[in-house]
Amino acid sequence: IQVEKVSFVDSVFSLAQLPVGDLPEIAFAGRSNVGKSSLLNCLLRRKNLVKVSARPGKTQSLNFYLVGDQLHLVDLPGYGFARVDKRLQAKWQELITAYLETRPNLRCVVLIIDLRHALKESDRMLAGWLQAQGIPWLPVYTKKDKLSRNQQQRQARLLDAALGVSPKDRLLFSSLSGEGRQELLERLETYLMS
Ligand code: GTP
Ligand code: MG
Repeated sequence: IQVEKVSFVDSVFSLAQLPVGDLPEIAFAGRSNVGKSSLLNCLLRRKNLVKVSARPGKTQSLNFYLVGDQLHLVDLPGYGFARVDKRLQAKWQELITAYLETRPNLRCVVLIIDLRHALKESDRMLAGWLQAQGIPWLPVYTKKDKLSRNQQQRQARLLDAALGVSPKDRLLFSSLSGEGRQELLERLETYLMS
């Protein structure tokens, strides 16, 4: 994955707006404020390519980024944020579900989870749903810089058990330090080959 050449493509609010063509896509999903946009900036080595905010609900559309003329990375709106208008939230969920269900370009969903917290019901539901749909998904536990090494290990084991994944099938990450970045890039490559 060549991150030297990256550009913003489009903010998508409906299926009709999705980019045409058959470039492979990798989508980044997770609860509001978990650090999806930060992780993308870290991955692409850009400071402000993707809008980041301390206030949850910052990303409100499917945002497409073209990487190395080779693939699209897709920043998805976060879920599980109650303060967003209920009707609006349902509409987003509908769009994201339809996108994930029908998009032939989609190779993998990176499911981003805060390493500090226990697995939330919404994460469990999304993971189960992706599994049932046969959509490849990769759990990434982020914000590891906020925990001590011991706590990192303990929390990771709890999340592994709750998700039913083995340690080799997930990654720890920090957008602050860049830890896990190279591993994640290498892992994503494998989804592009299949
Ligand atoms: P929405 O778009 O609202 O769903 O949020 P998001 O998941 O895109 O989160 P975003 O990247 O905007 O980050 C939310 C907050 O967490 C910001 O204040 C970030 O600076 C912070 N943050 C994200 N990743 C990390 C990390 O790895 N370490 C630390 N210490 N802070 C992080
Ligand atoms: Mg965001």
